[in-house]
Amino acid sequence: MIHLRLGVNIDHVATLRNARGGAHPDPLAAAEMAIAAGADGITIHLREDRRHIRDADLAAIRAGIAAPLNLEMAGTEEMLRIALASNPHAACLVPERRAEVTTEGGLDVAGQRATLGPIVAALGAAGIRVSMFVDPDPHQLEASAAIGAAVVELHTGAYAHGKAGELARLAEGARIAASLGLECHAGHGLTYDNVAAVAAIPQVMELNIGHFIIGQAVFDGLPEVVRRMRAVMREARGAPR
Ligand code: PXP
Repeated sequence: MIHLRLGVNIDHVATLRNARGGAHPDPLAAAEMAIAAGADGITIHLREDRRHIRDADLAAIRAGIAAPLNLEMAGTEEMLRIALASNPHAACLVPERRAEVTTEGGLDVAGQRATLGPIVAALGAAGIRVSMFVDPDPHQLEASAAIGAAVVELHTGAYAHGKAGELARLAEGARIAASLGLECHAGHGLTYDNVAAVAAIPQVMELNIGHFIIGQAVFDGLPEVVRRMRAVMREARGAPR
């Protein structure tokens, strides 16, 4: 069974820090701790409004960790410029609306080919692995492959909210993605209680998990939560804990 990677999204360490305006808790320290505990990579979302991760965090984390950094970003000129200047391992294009609490729903790649295509091409030409955050919809998967993305990240939010039939859609989406030559990732709303079924989908290569891990770390500590999440994922994948 192929190793299922865990990317830990540390945005909400920055949310907590920003609540008081100082330097604590430090997202870079959280990134280092997550990696030391077994995370395969770190994910951050530099939002247009900088509500959590800020430009200085991106610079510090990019310089401070050797593990792969996945930069979630809106498909805008500003973010493209920042991504090209910071050169992360991967960039995940996500939809962004200022008023939303979190990323609600996947990117409409099929409807935005003309604007997203050049951004995917520019990131790819710089050697950045480009991912599209999409719902498990065959049209969006086909459009992602058509504009040259290497990866799709399936939005697991509807599944996490218990919507009927969503697990089957995710499994079918992962199968279609692989058949299109896309590496398949998944994420959003995953917890100890719902991660196993997604981790068991054989085409899924990486999970990106943030809010639950950072929230649970308040009770158990970040290293313990990363280790336990890894163990649940490994077991779901058929490997011993
Ligand atoms: N993947 C993507 C593309 C996201 O936008 C997010 C949320 O920032 C996540 C994964 C992680 O979601 P959660 O914080 O609910 O685990």
